[in-house]
Amino acid sequence: MTTDGFATTQLHTGYVPGTPQNTVATPIYQSSAYQFSSLAEARELFALRRRGNIYSRNGTPTQAVLEQRITALEGGVGAAAVGSGQAATAVAALALAGRGGHIVAASSLYGGTVDLFDTTLADLGIEVTFVDQDDLAAWRGAVRPTTRLLFAETVANPVAQVLDIRAVADIAHAAGVPLVLDNTVGTPYLIRVRDHGADIVVHSATKFIGGHGTSLGGLVVDLGTFDFAADPAKWPALFEPHWRFGDVALWDAFGRTGALTTLLKSRFVADLGPALSPFNAFQLLEGLETLDLRVGRHAASGLEIARFLADHPAVGRVFHPGLPDNPYAARAAEYYPRGVPSVFAFELADPGADDEAAFARVARVVDALRTIKLVANIGDARTLVCHPASMTHNHMTPDQLAAAGISWATIRISVGLEDTGDLIADLDRALREA
Ligand SMILES: Cc1ncc(COP(=O)(O)O)c(C=O)c1O
Repeated sequence: MTTDGFATTQLHTGYVPGTPQNTVATPIYQSSAYQFSSLAEARELFALRRRGNIYSRNGTPTQAVLEQRITALEGGVGAAAVGSGQAATAVAALALAGRGGHIVAASSLYGGTVDLFDTTLADLGIEVTFVDQDDLAAWRGAVRPTTRLLFAETVANPVAQVLDIRAVADIAHAAGVPLVLDNTVGTPYLIRVRDHGADIVVHSATKFIGGHGTSLGGLVVDLGTFDFAADPAKWPALFEPHWRFGDVALWDAFGRTGALTTLLKSRFVADLGPALSPFNAFQLLEGLETLDLRVGRHAASGLEIARFLADHPAVGRVFHPGLPDNPYAARAAEYYPRGVPSVFAFELADPGADDEAAFARVARVVDALRTIKLVANIGDARTLVCHPASMTHNHMTPDQLAAAGISWATIRISVGLEDTGDLIADLDRALREA
Protein backbone atom coordinates (compact mmCIF):
# COMPACT_ATOMS: atom_id res chain seq x y z
CA MET A 1 0.00 0.00 0.00
CA THR A 2 1.36 3.45 -0.90
CA THR A 3 2.49 5.87 1.79
CA ASP A 4 2.06 8.83 -0.58
CA GLY A 5 -0.60 11.43 0.04
CA PHE A 6 -3.86 11.67 -1.98
CA ALA A 7 -2.57 14.30 -4.43
CA THR A 8 0.69 12.45 -5.15
CA THR A 9 -1.19 9.17 -5.60
CA GLN A 10 -3.77 10.65 -7.98
CA LEU A 11 -0.90 11.91 -10.18
CA HIS A 12 1.66 9.11 -10.15
CA THR A 13 0.43 5.69 -9.03
CA GLY A 14 0.50 2.94 -11.63
CA TYR A 15 2.71 4.56 -14.25
CA VAL A 16 6.47 4.29 -14.58
CA PRO A 17 7.79 6.77 -17.18
CA GLY A 18 10.62 5.52 -19.33
CA THR A 19 8.89 2.45 -20.69
CA PRO A 20 9.10 2.30 -23.63
CA GLN A 21 9.17 5.87 -25.06
CA ASN A 22 9.82 7.91 -21.88
CA THR A 23 6.52 9.81 -22.07
CA VAL A 24 5.84 11.44 -18.70
CA ALA A 25 2.08 11.22 -19.31
CA THR A 26 0.48 7.78 -19.47
CA PRO A 27 0.21 6.89 -23.19
CA ILE A 28 -2.98 5.83 -24.96
CA TYR A 29 -2.21 2.28 -26.02
CA GLN A 30 -4.72 2.19 -28.88
CA SER A 31 -4.26 -1.39 -29.99
CA SER A 32 -6.96 -4.03 -30.21
CA ALA A 33 -4.51 -6.83 -29.55
CA TYR A 34 -0.96 -7.53 -28.42
CA GLN A 35 1.87 -9.43 -30.01
CA PHE A 36 3.41 -12.36 -28.17
CA SER A 37 7.14 -13.02 -28.15
CA SER A 38 6.56 -16.75 -28.54
CA LEU A 39 3.80 -19.33 -28.55
CA ALA A 40 5.01 -20.50 -25.15
CA GLU A 41 4.47 -16.99 -23.76
CA ALA A 42 0.98 -16.84 -25.34
CA ARG A 43 0.10 -20.13 -23.68
CA GLU A 44 1.16 -18.84 -20.24
CA LEU A 45 -0.81 -15.62 -20.66
CA PHE A 46 -3.99 -17.33 -21.86
CA ALA A 47 -3.81 -19.78 -18.97
CA LEU A 48 -3.54 -16.79 -16.58
CA ARG A 49 -0.31 -18.23 -15.19
CA ARG A 50 1.37 -14.96 -16.18
CA ARG A 51 -0.06 -11.43 -16.25
CA GLY A 52 0.27 -9.53 -19.49
CA ASN A 53 -1.54 -7.98 -22.43
CA ILE A 54 -3.54 -10.26 -24.69
CA TYR A 55 -6.48 -8.44 -26.23
CA SER A 56 -8.02 -5.07 -25.31
CA ARG A 57 -11.33 -6.51 -24.15
CA ASN A 58 -9.36 -8.18 -21.35
CA GLY A 59 -7.41 -5.04 -20.45
CA THR A 60 -4.99 -2.43 -21.75
CA PRO A 61 -1.87 -0.81 -20.29
CA THR A 62 -3.65 2.57 -20.10
CA GLN A 63 -6.57 1.03 -18.23
CA ALA A 64 -4.18 -0.79 -15.89
CA VAL A 65 -2.76 2.54 -14.71
CA LEU A 66 -6.29 3.82 -14.01
CA GLU A 67 -7.10 0.62 -12.10
CA GLN A 68 -3.99 0.85 -9.96
CA ARG A 69 -4.50 4.53 -9.23
CA ILE A 70 -8.13 4.15 -8.11
CA THR A 71 -7.21 1.06 -6.11
CA ALA A 72 -4.60 3.13 -4.25
CA LEU A 73 -6.97 6.06 -3.68
CA GLU A 74 -9.74 3.78 -2.34
CA GLY A 75 -7.25 1.73 -0.28
CA GLY A 76 -8.20 -1.49 -2.09
CA VAL A 77 -6.40 -4.55 -3.43
CA GLY A 78 -7.44 -4.40 -7.10
CA ALA A 79 -9.89 -2.95 -9.60
CA ALA A 80 -11.58 -3.80 -12.87
CA ALA A 81 -12.20 -0.91 -15.24
CA VAL A 82 -15.14 -1.15 -17.64
CA GLY A 83 -16.90 0.94 -20.28
CA SER A 84 -19.42 2.69 -18.02
CA GLY A 85 -20.62 2.98 -14.45
CA GLN A 86 -23.65 0.95 -15.43
CA ALA A 87 -21.37 -1.89 -16.56
CA ALA A 88 -19.46 -1.69 -13.28
CA THR A 89 -22.63 -2.25 -11.23
CA ALA A 90 -23.84 -4.96 -13.60
CA VAL A 91 -20.64 -7.05 -13.56
CA ALA A 92 -20.26 -6.66 -9.79
CA ALA A 93 -23.84 -7.86 -9.24
CA LEU A 94 -23.50 -10.75 -11.69
CA ALA A 95 -20.19 -11.90 -10.22
CA LEU A 96 -21.53 -11.92 -6.66
CA ALA A 97 -25.21 -12.78 -7.07
CA GLY A 98 -25.34 -14.86 -10.25
CA ARG A 99 -26.95 -18.32 -10.19
CA GLY A 100 -30.14 -17.11 -8.53
CA GLY A 101 -28.73 -14.92 -5.80
CA HIS A 102 -30.57 -12.13 -4.05
CA ILE A 103 -29.60 -8.50 -3.46
CA VAL A 104 -30.85 -6.08 -0.82
CA ALA A 105 -30.57 -2.54 -2.19
CA ALA A 106 -31.43 0.96 -1.04
CA SER A 107 -34.52 2.34 -2.75
CA SER A 108 -32.76 5.66 -3.36
CA LEU A 109 -30.51 4.85 -6.29
CA TYR A 110 -29.61 6.29 -9.69
CA GLY A 111 -32.56 5.49 -12.01
CA GLY A 112 -30.41 3.36 -14.34
CA THR A 113 -29.38 1.18 -11.41
CA VAL A 114 -33.03 0.72 -10.43
CA ASP A 115 -33.80 -0.30 -14.03
CA LEU A 116 -30.89 -2.77 -14.03
CA PHE A 117 -31.94 -4.32 -10.73
CA ASP A 118 -35.68 -4.23 -11.31
CA THR A 119 -35.89 -5.60 -14.83
CA THR A 120 -32.66 -6.90 -16.37
CA LEU A 121 -31.26 -8.68 -13.30
CA ALA A 122 -34.77 -9.91 -12.46
CA ASP A 123 -34.99 -11.43 -15.96
CA LEU A 124 -31.68 -13.16 -15.28
CA GLY A 125 -33.05 -14.71 -12.08
CA ILE A 126 -31.41 -12.33 -9.61
CA GLU A 127 -33.98 -10.90 -7.25
CA VAL A 128 -33.59 -7.49 -5.63
CA THR A 129 -35.43 -6.26 -2.55
CA PHE A 130 -35.44 -2.47 -2.18
CA VAL A 131 -35.44 -0.96 1.32
CA ASP A 132 -35.49 2.51 2.85
CA GLN A 133 -31.76 3.01 3.39
CA ASP A 134 -32.30 4.66 6.78
CA ASP A 135 -34.42 1.78 8.09
CA LEU A 136 -31.86 -0.62 9.57
CA ALA A 137 -34.57 -3.11 10.58
CA ALA A 138 -35.70 -3.21 6.93
CA TRP A 139 -32.14 -4.02 5.75
CA ARG A 140 -31.93 -6.81 8.35
CA GLY A 141 -35.43 -8.11 7.61
CA ALA A 142 -34.84 -8.30 3.86
CA VAL A 143 -31.83 -10.62 4.13
CA ARG A 144 -32.49 -14.20 2.94
CA PRO A 145 -30.33 -17.32 2.81
CA THR A 146 -29.73 -16.54 -0.88
CA THR A 147 -28.68 -12.91 -0.29
CA ARG A 148 -25.22 -12.27 -1.73
CA LEU A 149 -24.71 -8.53 -1.31
CA LEU A 150 -26.10 -5.31 0.11
CA PHE A 151 -26.00 -2.32 -2.24
CA ALA A 152 -26.35 1.45 -1.74
CA GLU A 153 -24.96 4.80 -2.85
CA THR A 154 -22.76 6.74 -0.43
CA VAL A 155 -24.80 9.87 -1.05
CA ALA A 156 -27.97 9.01 -2.92
CA ASN A 157 -28.77 10.94 -6.02
CA PRO A 158 -30.80 13.17 -6.35
CA VAL A 159 -32.00 14.14 -2.85
CA ALA A 160 -28.65 13.52 -1.14
CA GLN A 161 -29.56 11.00 1.58
CA VAL A 162 -26.32 10.24 3.41
CA LEU A 163 -25.86 6.53 4.06
CA ASP A 164 -24.89 5.35 7.54
CA ILE A 165 -22.18 3.16 6.03
CA ARG A 166 -20.96 1.63 9.28
CA ALA A 167 -24.45 0.52 10.34
CA VAL A 168 -25.30 -1.06 6.96
CA ALA A 169 -21.84 -2.68 6.75
CA ASP A 170 -22.43 -4.30 10.14
CA ILE A 171 -25.74 -5.75 8.89
CA ALA A 172 -24.06 -7.06 5.73
CA HIS A 173 -21.27 -8.71 7.70
CA ALA A 174 -23.68 -10.24 10.22
CA ALA A 175 -25.45 -11.77 7.19
CA GLY A 176 -22.13 -13.03 5.79
CA VAL A 177 -22.22 -10.89 2.63
CA PRO A 178 -20.24 -7.88 1.37
CA LEU A 179 -21.45 -4.28 1.32
CA VAL A 180 -21.11 -2.90 -2.21
CA LEU A 181 -21.22 0.88 -2.43
CA ASP A 182 -21.64 3.16 -5.43
CA ASN A 183 -19.22 5.96 -4.50
CA THR A 184 -19.74 7.98 -7.69
CA VAL A 185 -21.12 11.01 -5.87
CA GLY A 186 -18.99 10.63 -2.75
CA THR A 187 -15.68 10.23 -4.65
CA PRO A 188 -12.59 8.74 -2.98
CA TYR A 189 -11.47 12.28 -2.13
CA LEU A 190 -14.47 13.13 0.04
CA ILE A 191 -14.85 9.67 1.61
CA ARG A 192 -12.74 6.53 1.93
CA VAL A 193 -15.49 3.98 2.39
CA ARG A 194 -13.04 1.26 3.38
CA ASP A 195 -12.49 3.09 6.65
CA HIS A 196 -16.21 2.69 7.41
CA GLY A 197 -16.66 -1.01 6.65
CA ALA A 198 -17.50 -1.20 2.92
CA ASP A 199 -16.06 -4.13 0.95
CA ILE A 200 -16.47 -3.33 -2.74
CA VAL A 201 -16.84 0.02 -4.51
CA VAL A 202 -18.35 0.78 -7.89
CA HIS A 203 -17.82 4.07 -9.67
CA SER A 204 -19.27 5.78 -12.65
CA ALA A 205 -15.89 7.32 -13.57
CA THR A 206 -17.87 9.28 -16.16
CA LYS A 207 -18.66 11.77 -13.38
CA PHE A 208 -16.17 13.33 -10.95
CA ILE A 209 -13.23 11.01 -11.70
CA GLY A 210 -13.16 12.09 -15.36
CA GLY A 211 -14.64 15.40 -14.30
CA HIS A 212 -14.99 17.05 -17.69
CA GLY A 213 -18.07 15.40 -19.17
CA THR A 214 -16.18 13.84 -22.09
CA SER A 215 -15.82 10.11 -21.47
CA LEU A 216 -17.78 7.19 -20.11
CA GLY A 217 -16.10 4.69 -17.83
CA GLY A 218 -16.67 2.62 -14.73
CA LEU A 219 -14.71 0.79 -12.06
CA VAL A 220 -15.25 -2.01 -9.59
CA VAL A 221 -12.75 -1.80 -6.73
CA ASP A 222 -12.18 -4.75 -4.42
CA LEU A 223 -11.22 -3.35 -1.04
CA GLY A 224 -10.00 -6.81 0.03
CA THR A 225 -11.89 -6.60 3.33
CA PHE A 226 -14.56 -9.25 2.82
CA ASP A 227 -13.67 -12.78 3.85
CA PHE A 228 -15.20 -14.87 1.06
CA ALA A 229 -13.32 -17.91 2.43
CA ALA A 230 -15.50 -17.89 5.57
CA ASP A 231 -18.30 -19.57 3.56
CA PRO A 232 -16.95 -20.90 0.24
CA ALA A 233 -20.24 -22.64 -0.64
CA LYS A 234 -21.83 -19.22 -1.13
CA TRP A 235 -19.33 -18.20 -3.81
CA PRO A 236 -18.97 -21.09 -6.29
CA ALA A 237 -17.52 -18.83 -8.99
CA LEU A 238 -14.57 -18.14 -6.70
CA PHE A 239 -14.16 -21.50 -5.00
CA GLU A 240 -15.17 -24.18 -7.52
CA PRO A 241 -12.35 -25.32 -9.82
CA HIS A 242 -13.25 -24.26 -13.33
CA TRP A 243 -12.08 -25.76 -16.61
CA ARG A 244 -11.58 -22.25 -17.96
CA PHE A 245 -8.88 -21.65 -15.41
CA GLY A 246 -7.11 -24.98 -15.78
CA ASP A 247 -9.42 -26.77 -13.33
CA VAL A 248 -8.20 -24.53 -10.55
CA ALA A 249 -10.41 -22.39 -8.30
CA LEU A 250 -9.78 -18.66 -8.71
CA TRP A 251 -9.42 -18.33 -4.95
CA ASP A 252 -6.65 -20.93 -4.90
CA ALA A 253 -4.86 -19.30 -7.83
CA PHE A 254 -5.20 -15.62 -6.89
CA GLY A 255 -6.22 -15.48 -3.22
CA ARG A 256 -7.93 -12.71 -1.33
CA THR A 257 -6.16 -9.91 -3.21
CA GLY A 258 -6.74 -11.13 -6.76
CA ALA A 259 -9.58 -13.66 -7.05
CA LEU A 260 -12.51 -11.25 -7.33
CA THR A 261 -10.93 -8.90 -9.86
CA THR A 262 -9.78 -11.90 -11.92
CA LEU A 263 -13.35 -13.24 -11.86
CA LEU A 264 -14.67 -9.85 -12.98
CA LYS A 265 -12.15 -9.40 -15.78
CA SER A 266 -11.62 -12.93 -17.02
CA ARG A 267 -15.27 -13.95 -16.94
CA PHE A 268 -17.77 -11.13 -16.83
CA VAL A 269 -15.93 -8.39 -18.74
CA ALA A 270 -14.36 -10.87 -21.16
CA ASP A 271 -17.67 -12.70 -21.80
CA LEU A 272 -20.10 -9.79 -21.84
CA GLY A 273 -17.71 -7.34 -23.46
CA PRO A 274 -18.17 -3.96 -21.69
CA ALA A 275 -14.53 -2.98 -22.19
CA LEU A 276 -13.12 0.48 -21.50
CA SER A 277 -11.47 2.07 -24.54
CA PRO A 278 -7.83 3.11 -24.11
CA PHE A 279 -8.76 6.65 -25.15
CA ASN A 280 -11.43 6.91 -22.45
CA ALA A 281 -9.02 5.42 -19.89
CA PHE A 282 -6.57 8.20 -20.80
CA GLN A 283 -9.24 10.90 -20.44
CA LEU A 284 -10.28 9.53 -17.07
CA LEU A 285 -6.65 9.48 -15.92
CA GLU A 286 -6.26 13.11 -16.97
CA GLY A 287 -9.29 14.04 -14.93
CA LEU A 288 -8.15 11.99 -11.96
CA GLU A 289 -4.92 14.02 -11.72
CA THR A 290 -6.90 16.99 -10.34
CA LEU A 291 -9.65 15.16 -8.42
CA ASP A 292 -8.86 16.71 -5.04
CA LEU A 293 -8.70 20.28 -6.38
CA ARG A 294 -11.90 19.96 -8.38
CA VAL A 295 -14.00 18.08 -5.84
CA GLY A 296 -13.00 20.41 -3.01
CA ARG A 297 -14.12 23.38 -5.07
CA HIS A 298 -17.30 21.64 -6.27
CA ALA A 299 -18.19 20.99 -2.62
CA ALA A 300 -17.50 24.54 -1.41
CA SER A 301 -19.46 26.10 -4.27
CA GLY A 302 -22.31 23.61 -3.81
CA LEU A 303 -22.72 24.58 -0.17
CA GLU A 304 -22.79 28.28 -1.03
CA ILE A 305 -25.46 27.68 -3.66
CA ALA A 306 -27.50 25.52 -1.28
CA ARG A 307 -27.47 28.34 1.28
CA PHE A 308 -28.57 30.83 -1.40
CA LEU A 309 -31.43 28.55 -2.53
CA ALA A 310 -32.56 27.90 1.05
CA ASP A 311 -33.08 31.67 1.50
CA HIS A 312 -34.81 32.22 -1.85
CA PRO A 313 -38.56 32.96 -1.71
CA ALA A 314 -39.27 30.93 -4.87
CA VAL A 315 -37.62 27.80 -3.43
CA GLY A 316 -39.19 25.30 -1.04
CA ARG A 317 -37.07 22.49 0.38
CA VAL A 318 -33.33 22.26 -0.34
CA PHE A 319 -31.88 18.77 0.10
CA HIS A 320 -28.27 19.59 0.96
CA PRO A 321 -26.74 17.77 3.95
CA GLY A 322 -24.43 20.73 4.62
CA LEU A 323 -27.42 22.85 5.72
CA PRO A 324 -27.94 22.76 9.50
CA ASP A 325 -31.64 21.82 9.31
CA ASN A 326 -31.04 18.89 6.94
CA PRO A 327 -31.85 15.54 8.60
CA TYR A 328 -28.46 14.20 7.46
CA ALA A 329 -26.40 17.18 8.68
CA ALA A 330 -24.80 15.40 11.65
CA ARG A 331 -24.09 12.23 9.66
CA ALA A 332 -22.61 14.25 6.79
CA ALA A 333 -20.33 16.12 9.18
CA GLU A 334 -19.14 12.80 10.59
CA TYR A 335 -18.58 10.99 7.28
CA TYR A 336 -17.61 13.93 5.03
CA PRO A 337 -15.18 16.18 6.92
CA ARG A 338 -13.71 17.49 3.63
CA GLY A 339 -17.09 18.71 2.37
CA VAL A 340 -20.44 17.37 1.21
CA PRO A 341 -20.81 16.31 -2.45
CA SER A 342 -22.09 19.00 -4.82
CA VAL A 343 -24.96 16.95 -6.26
CA PHE A 344 -28.23 17.77 -4.53
CA ALA A 345 -31.83 18.75 -5.20
CA PHE A 346 -34.29 21.50 -4.43
CA GLU A 347 -38.03 21.97 -4.87
CA LEU A 348 -39.94 25.00 -6.03
CA ALA A 349 -41.92 26.75 -3.30
CA ASP A 350 -45.27 26.68 -5.03
CA PRO A 351 -45.31 23.64 -7.32
CA GLY A 352 -48.99 23.80 -8.28
CA ALA A 353 -51.91 21.43 -7.88
CA ASP A 354 -50.58 18.32 -9.60
CA ASP A 355 -47.61 16.76 -11.39
CA GLU A 356 -48.31 18.52 -14.71
CA ALA A 357 -48.55 21.91 -13.00
CA ALA A 358 -45.27 21.19 -11.20
CA PHE A 359 -43.67 20.13 -14.48
CA ALA A 360 -44.75 23.40 -16.14
CA ARG A 361 -43.32 25.47 -13.26
CA VAL A 362 -40.02 23.56 -13.28
CA ALA A 363 -39.81 23.88 -17.08
CA ARG A 364 -40.15 27.68 -16.87
CA VAL A 365 -37.25 27.87 -14.39
CA VAL A 366 -34.99 25.38 -16.13
CA ASP A 367 -35.60 26.82 -19.61
CA ALA A 368 -34.72 30.32 -18.31
CA LEU A 369 -31.24 29.27 -17.12
CA ARG A 370 -28.33 30.45 -19.26
CA THR A 371 -25.01 29.57 -17.61
CA ILE A 372 -26.41 26.41 -16.04
CA LYS A 373 -27.16 23.70 -18.59
CA LEU A 374 -30.05 21.22 -18.79
CA VAL A 375 -28.13 17.94 -19.05
CA ALA A 376 -28.70 14.41 -17.71
CA ASN A 377 -25.28 14.09 -16.12
CA ILE A 378 -23.45 14.94 -12.92
CA GLY A 379 -19.85 15.54 -11.90
CA ASP A 380 -19.06 17.70 -14.95
CA ALA A 381 -16.88 20.81 -14.67
CA ARG A 382 -20.01 22.66 -15.88
CA THR A 383 -23.03 23.18 -13.65
CA LEU A 384 -25.90 20.99 -14.78
CA VAL A 385 -29.53 20.65 -13.80
CA CYS A 386 -32.06 17.97 -14.60
CA HIS A 387 -35.63 17.09 -13.71
CA PRO A 388 -35.38 13.54 -12.31
CA ALA A 389 -39.12 12.71 -12.54
CA SER A 390 -39.22 13.28 -16.33
CA MET A 391 -35.57 12.48 -17.14
CA THR A 392 -33.13 10.22 -15.21
CA HIS A 393 -35.79 8.55 -13.08
CA ASN A 394 -38.67 8.55 -15.62
CA HIS A 395 -38.98 4.74 -15.67
CA MET A 396 -39.75 4.61 -11.98
CA THR A 397 -43.28 4.01 -10.70
CA PRO A 398 -44.94 6.71 -8.52
CA ASP A 399 -44.21 4.51 -5.48
CA GLN A 400 -40.55 4.13 -6.44
CA LEU A 401 -40.26 7.90 -6.97
CA ALA A 402 -41.81 8.57 -3.57
CA ALA A 403 -39.46 6.03 -1.95
CA ALA A 404 -36.50 7.84 -3.52
CA GLY A 405 -37.81 11.21 -2.24
CA ILE A 406 -38.46 12.61 -5.73
CA SER A 407 -41.49 14.74 -6.62
CA TRP A 408 -42.39 16.49 -9.88
CA ALA A 409 -41.20 19.76 -8.32
CA THR A 410 -37.71 18.36 -7.65
CA ILE A 411 -34.81 19.84 -9.60
CA ARG A 412 -31.39 18.21 -9.33
CA ILE A 413 -28.29 20.34 -9.58
CA SER A 414 -24.69 19.22 -10.01
CA VAL A 415 -22.63 22.26 -9.13
CA GLY A 416 -19.62 22.77 -11.41
CA LEU A 417 -16.52 24.91 -11.33
CA GLU A 418 -17.80 28.25 -12.66
CA ASP A 419 -17.62 31.37 -10.46
CA THR A 420 -20.17 30.75 -7.72
CA GLY A 421 -21.49 34.31 -8.03
CA ASP A 422 -22.33 33.76 -11.70
CA LEU A 423 -24.23 30.57 -10.86
CA ILE A 424 -26.18 32.30 -8.10
CA ALA A 425 -27.05 35.17 -10.46
CA ASP A 426 -28.25 32.71 -13.11
CA LEU A 427 -30.44 30.82 -10.64
CA ASP A 428 -31.80 34.01 -9.11
CA ARG A 429 -32.75 35.45 -12.51
CA ALA A 430 -34.38 32.20 -13.70
CA LEU A 431 -36.33 31.77 -10.46
CA ARG A 432 -37.57 35.38 -10.59
CA GLU A 433 -38.44 35.34 -14.31
CA ALA A 434 -40.36 32.08 -13.91
C1 LIG B 1 -24.68 7.34 -8.99
C2 LIG B 1 -24.54 6.77 -10.37
N1 LIG B 1 -24.15 5.51 -10.52
C3 LIG B 1 -24.01 4.96 -11.74
C4 LIG B 1 -24.30 5.67 -12.89
C5 LIG B 1 -24.14 5.00 -14.22
O1 LIG B 1 -22.95 5.44 -14.79
P1 LIG B 1 -22.68 5.56 -16.35
O2 LIG B 1 -23.56 6.63 -16.89
O3 LIG B 1 -21.22 5.87 -16.43
O4 LIG B 1 -23.01 4.25 -16.96
C6 LIG B 1 -24.72 6.98 -12.79
C7 LIG B 1 -25.04 7.76 -14.00
O5 LIG B 1 -25.61 8.83 -13.94
C8 LIG B 1 -24.85 7.56 -11.48
O6 LIG B 1 -25.26 8.82 -11.33
